[in-house]
Parts: sequence; C-alpha cells; structure tokens
Amino acid sequence: MSDHDTPRAGQAWDAAGYVHHASFVAERGSDIFAALAPVPGEAILDIGCGDGALTAKIAAEGAAVTGLEPDPSMAAAARARGLEVLEQDARTPFGNSRFDAVFSNAALHWIRDPEPALANAFAALKPGGRFVAEQGGFGNVAAIRIALEAALGAKGLGPAAEPWDFPTPAVQAARLERAGFRVLQIGLVPRPTPLPTGWEGWLATFGAPFLGELSDAARRAVVADCAARLSVLTDETGTAHADYMRLRFSAVRP
Ligand code: BEZ
Repeated sequence: MSDHDTPRAGQAWDAAGYVHHASFVAERGSDIFAALAPVPGEAILDIGCGDGALTAKIAAEGAAVTGLEPDPSMAAAARARGLEVLEQDARTPFGNSRFDAVFSNAALHWIRDPEPALANAFAALKPGGRFVAEQGGFGNVAAIRIALEAALGAKGLGPAAEPWDFPTPAVQAARLERAGFRVLQIGLVPRPTPLPTGWEGWLATFGAPFLGELSDAARRAVVADCAARLSVLTDETGTAHADYMRLRFSAVRP
C-alpha cells in the first residue's frame, strides 16, 4: 500500500465542537428540507442525523422522525433534543417498508461504498415513498483538497486515501436506479459557504482523515500553510468561503 492508499485517521465527531465550527451545515439545509416538505403524521428516517438540528425541524412539522447516526457523541446530542435515534451505520439495514420518506443532509458523502446504504433506503421505504437528499457532489471542496495536499506535500507527506464520495449526478442516478429507485430530480448546485471559524475551524472539524495522525506541531504548520494557500477564497473581511458543491436528488420507490 502506498501513502496514497492509507487513511491517516478516521473521522471522529465531537458534538460540541461541531456546533461551534459547523452549525452552518444544518442551517444551510433549508433547501433540501423544503424539497422534503414533511407532512404531519408521516414516518421519516433521517440518515446521518448528526446532532439532530435538522431532524428536530422535521419533527416540528409534525412528522414522526427517526434519526440514524453511528457516532455516539452525535447520537447523544440528537437524543438530548428528544429525538429517537438508531445508533448505527446506514450500510446496516434499518427497516422494511416502514417509512414514507428517507431524508439525508450532508451525510451520504461519508459513505465510500454507498450502494448498500441506497439499497437499505429503498427497502426501508413504503412503496411510493420518497428519498430526498443532499450531499457533497463532484468537485466538492476541490480547492481545499488541492491546498491541503500541497501543504502536506511541502512537509514531505503524501496525500491520504480519499475519505469522501462526491459523485457526479450521472453516477449517483445510476446507483439509485440499480437500487430500484425512479429518480425524479438530480443535479449539482454550487454553494460557496462562509465559514464561521475560518479554515482552521473547518480543518479541525473535517480534516482528520488528512491531519489526524500528525503531531500537534506538524498539524499546526500544515493548517497554517493550507489557510495561506486558500487566501484566494478569503474575502476582504477575512471570511473564508468553502467551495462547496452540493448534489441534490429526489427519488421514489415505485
Ligand atoms: C460537505 O458537507 O460537503 C463536506 C463536509 C466535510 C467534508 C467533506 C464534505
């Protein structure tokens, strides 16, 4: 295995840190929430519900929502909101013909082999049920990746293994169809995203697959170099803008 094939660390979550650095993830979920259009009384599953910020909005519409979240810290934060949470990976089955809708925001890209998760979403839906999701799509955070790899390379560190799945609409539509879905809508939406705690906050929250096993000093140096390389995406007020590219889709179980 070359350096390129070796993840430096897995992604670990800390619910308090996530709220501080990344509350924009749920706040920016309003378009996909609108596409879900939850109806009172519907049974809805939220894949990768995180700390439940958006899941609670679904519940507030009167739906009977269940979160699915494998990380214990995030699952506990979601339960603290009074939400029901299945603490498991989406690649493990989560029900048969139980839900009117399956929803997901900013979670599917963490699943490198998504086909089992898509098959589980299909199985968990009632016939006629919908799957509405947003995730990172093709080209997502490309500038951050290039800057990070250049900063790692300058330290003599090779790139880590790809931790994310950012598919094109064609690739994700084909996967959904193989799982049995009829795809109603799918497309990429560029969404430059101001970062409340800058490049440092973003890398501290999401950078573990690249930075996780470095010493503190090496990590600080790589983060500072990466932030300098990203100055072209830092505006006149000093606000960093992540080059997010969202993939949104809506599909139905026939
Ligand atoms: C995203 O939401 O697109 C994303 C967040 C962190 C790492 C990778 C992708």
